Amino acid sequence: MSEAHDRLRQYLEQRREMGESEFVLDNLSVEDALKVLTGRTPAPHAAPMRQPRPSQDIPRPPAPSDSAMRRTAEAAAAGGDWRDALRAVDAGESDTPAATPAATPPPAMQAPARSTTPTAPAGAKIFEIGAGAARSPLSDLVDLQSVAAAIANCTACTLAASATNHVPGEGNPNARFVVVGEAPGQTEDELGRPFVGKSGDLLTKILEAIGFKREDVFICNVLKHRPPANRNPAPEEIVACRPFLLRQLELLDPKVILALGTFAAQTLLETDSPIGKLRGLEHRYHGIPLVATYHPAALLRNPNWKRPAWEDVQLARRIFDRP
Ligand code: URA
Repeated sequence: MSEAHDRLRQYLEQRREMGESEFVLDNLSVEDALKVLTGRTPAPHAAPMRQPRPSQDIPRPPAPSDSAMRRTAEAAAAGGDWRDALRAVDAGESDTPAATPAATPPPAMQAPARSTTPTAPAGAKIFEIGAGAARSPLSDLVDLQSVAAAIANCTACTLAASATNHVPGEGNPNARFVVVGEAPGQTEDELGRPFVGKSGDLLTKILEAIGFKREDVFICNVLKHRPPANRNPAPEEIVACRPFLLRQLELLDPKVILALGTFAAQTLLETDSPIGKLRGLEHRYHGIPLVATYHPAALLRNPNWKRPAWEDVQLARRIFDRP
């Protein structure tokens, strides 16, 4: 397949993953265009089969908007808000100072905005899991350290056997702002800590941009052990791990959960809707407000998603600030 052909296919898959089904050329739908390009019927967008994990492996958008974005970013003065941090991580300069939250995105973040960003008012509740507080079967675990110890001894699935370390999560045990990612990656597995790789650096900066230090919040994952080679978590692994997350949430009693990426959002909300449709809204997870947004790894690859992600984390912060 030619490079142009491949890039067009990647672009269409990206649009589909973002929840778009319409295509402006000759009334072709995204599905039809993909069929023409690949000669086969594409798999449903909500069940990606690729490795590494789909939420972290999102095809880059076409070069023109990417490079235009980069040019704009470079033109913007250094310092200001977390979008500077995003740009710096993109450029491999992870030491850009963190910043203060800005209410409105600067011009550098405006160009790639999607026309199909969900339009429901911020705070609208569209999806609710569980009528009230979740009851974890692990109520004898009285604090987060006990949960971590139980995770360390867990053999409920096969992941512990292949992992180097368990990664229960870390942060302030009194945090009311909880970040939930997908599963530990290689660096997290090596260190036994969540979000410590490049996307972790970006997460730290995003949190700082909405006024949190990393150690103010609690950061964890749906899965507490790394799936080998970052493969997709299996349903039985999710089921096996769920009580730990539920117990952590019971103990923390967060005001808001920020779910990072397709997998975390879809797993917590028990839906196969694409992240592009889940983001931008306030959901409920066992009564706890939940905001879903793009995974930091996806933001590193797709400048187009920085602006909506910024809107999402601001929404999460507003919910946190609610009396
Ligand atoms: N990605 C995740 O979802 N979680 C981590 O801890 C690291 C990367």
